[in-house]
Amino acid sequence: MGRNAGRELVSSLLGLGLLLCSWGCPGSAERRPPPEKIAVIGAGIGGTSAAYYLRQKFGKDVKIDVFERGEVGGRLATVILQGREYEAGGSVIHPLNLHMKRFVKDLGLSTLSASGGLIGVYNGEKMVFQESSWFVINMIKLIWRYGFQSLRMHMWVEDILDKFMRIYRYQSHDYAFSSVEKLLHSLGGDDFLGMLNQTLNETLQKAGFSEKFLQEIVAPIMRVNYGQSTGINGFVGAVSMTGADSGLWSVEGGNKLVCSGLLQASKSNLIPGSVMFIEDKTRTRNTGDTTKMYEVVYQLGSETHADTYDIVLVATPLNQNMSNITFLNFDPPIEEFQQQYQHIVTTFVKGKLNTNLFCSRCSTNFGLSTILTTDTSKLLVNNFGLVTSVNEQNHILPSRDGTGVWKMFAQETLTKRQITKLFDSYLHASKQPWLAYPRYQPPEKCPSIILHDRLYYLNSIECAASAMEMSAIAAHNAALLAFHRWNGHKDMIDQEELYEKLKTEL
Ligand SMILES: Cc1cc2nc3c(=O)[nH]c(=O)nc-3n(C[C@H](O)[C@H](O)[C@H](O)COP(=O)(O)OP(=O)(O)OC[C@H]3O[C@@H](n4cnc5c(N)ncnc54)[C@H](O)[C@@H]3O)c2cc1C
Ligand SMILES: *[C@@H]1O[C@H](CO)[C@@H](O)[C@H](O)[C@H]1NC(C)=O
Ligand SMILES: *[C@@H]1O[C@H](CO)[C@@H](O)[C@H](O)[C@H]1NC(C)=O
Ligand SMILES: *[C@@H]1O[C@H](CO)[C@@H](O)[C@H](O)[C@H]1NC(C)=O
Ligand SMILES: *[C@@H]1O[C@H](CO)[C@@H](O)[C@H](O)[C@H]1NC(C)=O
Repeated sequence: MGRNAGRELVSSLLGLGLLLCSWGCPGSAERRPPPEKIAVIGAGIGGTSAAYYLRQKFGKDVKIDVFERGEVGGRLATVILQGREYEAGGSVIHPLNLHMKRFVKDLGLSTLSASGGLIGVYNGEKMVFQESSWFVINMIKLIWRYGFQSLRMHMWVEDILDKFMRIYRYQSHDYAFSSVEKLLHSLGGDDFLGMLNQTLNETLQKAGFSEKFLQEIVAPIMRVNYGQSTGINGFVGAVSMTGADSGLWSVEGGNKLVCSGLLQASKSNLIPGSVMFIEDKTRTRNTGDTTKMYEVVYQLGSETHADTYDIVLVATPLNQNMSNITFLNFDPPIEEFQQQYQHIVTTFVKGKLNTNLFCSRCSTNFGLSTILTTDTSKLLVNNFGLVTSVNEQNHILPSRDGTGVWKMFAQETLTKRQITKLFDSYLHASKQPWLAYPRYQPPEKCPSIILHDRLYYLNSIECAASAMEMSAIAAHNAALLAFHRWNGHKDMIDQEELYEKLKTEL
């Protein structure tokens, strides 16, 4: 049989399938009319990508309102220093973050490479590790100090990433999960769930990594990415380790452009208000029929408004200090959310770093563009990194004497005095405070994704790991889940052995 004939056979079988299915196939049975109105609360990467996926699934007729009380982009934001914009929140994206990659492509945006120059690790007394511009020398240095630990680390991370990437396959086949635990289990089985229950420290010690490697390499990476140490859960630890891979990138013009782009592409309606209450309401029509709706009460300027929706997606951390949304009239009541978030101040200083702090004889030949710190460093600052603006395509040139625009993450706002200690001289300083990501404390108990019948919570995924791609995955999942539950497609939710099933499928 020729290739074309084969293809024809396949397509006629597919055609037959479609024909048969129009009389009712399992799962795709008769479709309910689409919902009239959907509300999304929050216009960060989670909320805006949810709007995008909701539009794809529910079609052009549904009205989608996106509520945002601050700036579109949320934790993706830039600060301006002397007329140039720099990423102040979520900044780098992994080359295998396929949703983010897809958004950038679909929206016609451009990318910048985030190659960061040479890295050093400071322990409070000296540099314990210093990268060289020679790959071979780095390998020798790493092996000399840590044996083959860094190679093993690479393999450990790769193995987890490999399993994690199954999510793209599941989502492209429209499968959804009703809880973060079920989603993780479908990707990496009990191993992934176990990682939520253990500290990264425990996880890696069991895997045979040395204390020295944990303190000097792993902990500094956790400090820069999550402002915490190896006491965080093993899963977010692995996500954080992928931040040490090569090929990281960001969006030209600022990562937040993805959010405004998705919002526009989804043809949803942005309401610049602050949501205060969500109430479960039952409406009785003249005919005696009842419909269940959610009422969203929000503040717009000094006025209070209310609107009703068939489906609501909450795309912001539910925590009194952050979104402070009150749920009214739900039976059973919706729990209080207690997840604490880590306070982080992103600080930019344009000036000359006091390189003597880190090494005594390198003032004219410093050459590093990133300094990470160990838990013993006691510097007030978790890390230092030379940065370029969101419009500069060129790579960072390591400044020989430490002059440039430095970005730092600190637990608190730095005082002028503290900045003067860290810098020989500086011209400008700028800061942006965040409640940045959960304060991880395994065993993690993840909040529900389904808060009520048609009320979904995207940011529950942050209990496993907080990152742009995680929010996009949660958004895709929530849109699919809302769609399947609306249409009664039970067979598309929480399928077990999905990996095996899809492997044998054409
Ligand atoms: C300093 C820092 C560095 C980071 N670095 C990286 C990185 O390099 N790579 C990476 O992948 N991730 C990084 N992250 C994490 C990443 O930024 C977040 O995981 C992601 O942006 C979260 O997106 P989100 O849409 O889920 O939430 P958010 O961006 O927080 O969006 C929620 C939105 O909801 C709005 N909102 C809240 N309450 C209400 C209300 N009641 N009514 C109306 N609107 C409301 C908020 O104003 C906000 O805009 C970093 C985060 C920080 C803070
Ligand atoms: C993780 O810990 C919880 C209790 O906190 C327990 O119920 C669950 O079974 C544990 N899961 C695994 C995979 O160890
Ligand atoms: C890891 O845990 C061990 C004991 O459980 C502890 O001694 C060590 O200091 C921890 N290491 C780090 C880097 O936190
Ligand atoms: C949260 O909202 C409630 C009711 O709207 C309000 O009384 C309370 O002061 C708010 N809390 C914070 C921390 O903003
Ligand atoms: C909210 O902020 C207060 C004061 O900073 C803090 O004590 C409390 O733990 C925070 N709550 C959460 C859930 O983060």
